[in-house]
Amino acid sequence: RIPLLIDTDPGVDDALALLMAFNDPRHDIVGLTIAAGNVGLSHTVRNALKLCEVCGRDDIPVFAGTPEPLLHPAPDAGYVHGQDGFGDIGYPPPQRQAEAEHAALAILRLSHEHAGKLLLVALGPLTNVALALKLDPTLPQRVARLVVMGGAVTGHGNITPSAEFNFYFDPEAAHLVFEAFERIDLADWEATLAHGLLHERVAGWLAADSDRARFYADISEKTRLWSIDRRGDHWYAADAVAMAFALEPAGAVELAERPVAIELQGRHSRGASVVDWRREGGRPDRANILLQYDQARFEGLIQAALAAK
Ligand code: BDR
Ligand code: CA
Repeated sequence: RIPLLIDTDPGVDDALALLMAFNDPRHDIVGLTIAAGNVGLSHTVRNALKLCEVCGRDDIPVFAGTPEPLLHPAPDAGYVHGQDGFGDIGYPPPQRQAEAEHAALAILRLSHEHAGKLLLVALGPLTNVALALKLDPTLPQRVARLVVMGGAVTGHGNITPSAEFNFYFDPEAAHLVFEAFERIDLADWEATLAHGLLHERVAGWLAADSDRARFYADISEKTRLWSIDRRGDHWYAADAVAMAFALEPAGAVELAERPVAIELQGRHSRGASVVDWRREGGRPDRANILLQYDQARFEGLIQAALAAK
């Protein structure tokens, strides 16, 4: 089985991605490292612990990461995910606490323990991964595959006109990661937009007779209502797209390899992922950009994850 380490900021769509990973028999989840992003770190850690508990996965170690972006504080996305990141349902506190080890150190240790085999999936701002890289620049040599949710590859951002939330929250971290890893499997916001989920279909999956579906229906209600109001018939679960690509790469229908740079200075474009589509800059093709994924396979993974007991 493939050792899987997930860096995440749960977050409603992070939670769906985690359910998909929990349900995958081909991967062993060796840890969850927790980022700040959608909401503050104390909430994202608590949410990760609660989700593990609800799913009977208290065997998975949870490591708290860095509470702030590397350089500039950024606003969170509590207006989408609820102020606590899990729809403000007031769930009872989790029984367990996070491990004492810092997420960045856990990333490095696990990269040694699973050197050459590790699948690292980053579903939030890249602060923890960047910090791990700063501590030990040889990290990429031990990671077999890095999958990142972030960016907007033709500039249709979701937090500013040009930037996607994860990269906008910590552009310096995204920059460090894109400079250090020779290959990144990238599921961006525009791939998310190409793989919307019909709300009525989602409602059917959430009606499954399982604790996972019931809990997920509760924590996602606020964000689904927000989405209906803002975006219409479809719900866009960015981290679930990235997780499908991570767990079943064979489901990718169309990919493009290109150089990507992260804008750090732009007055209107900070955090933008600038893709050299025409390959004019002479930089290496580091990003393997997901353009299209098999929609039926994607939906099948979600449905099965929610129905699992
Ligand atoms: C990304 O930002 C967060 O709000 C989601 O969890 C996802 O990781 C989408 O831009
Ligand atoms: Ca996320």
